Amino acid sequence: MMKMGFGYAFQAFVLVLSVAMAAEARSIVVGGSENWRPGFNYTDWALKNSPFYINDTLVFNYEAPHNVYLLPNLWSFIKCDFKDAKLIASAEDGGGDGVKVDLTATRLYYFASSDSDDCSAGMMKFFAVPLPRLQG
Ligand SMILES: *[C@@H]1O[C@H](CO)[C@@H](O)[C@H](O)[C@H]1NC(C)=O
Ligand SMILES: *[C@@H]1O[C@H](CO)[C@@H](O)[C@H](O)[C@H]1NC(C)=O
Repeated sequence: MMKMGFGYAFQAFVLVLSVAMAAEARSIVVGGSENWRPGFNYTDWALKNSPFYINDTLVFNYEAPHNVYLLPNLWSFIKCDFKDAKLIASAEDGGGDGVKVDLTATRLYYFASSDSDDCSAGMMKFFAVPLPRLQG
């Protein structure tokens, strides 16, 4: 009896633990069903889908000629200055399952597409700040 009770409690504990762990690893498609494309407001999208948490994964699905850069700071983000930006996904990478970006650090992630007017139209860019998860 005691043993069965303990086994049941343990199973319940494992279940709770796996639910908590599943909740940890969110995978979020940038833009939802709109994917990563011109003419869609990703700042608005990011506001509505915030907060993001550490270890959430952003998935970028798109077609050429669009791409995904990580910009170094707010100024380059505002100006769409890609000089010191880091290319994280080229125009050819956006098909199939898309490109996954893990938000592993508590920092500002400035994302933008560099093709022609994608960024300067104010649309194909947004920033995210993953928050630490509360433990327990
Ligand atoms: C995008 O949405 C944000 C937040 O709703 C808004 O402040 C901004 O003006 C919009 N940008 C464009 C280019 O429409
Ligand atoms: C994020 O994932 C890394 C690698 O799997 C892990 O070591 C770290 O503890 C995770 N951080 C949080 C806050 O879950």
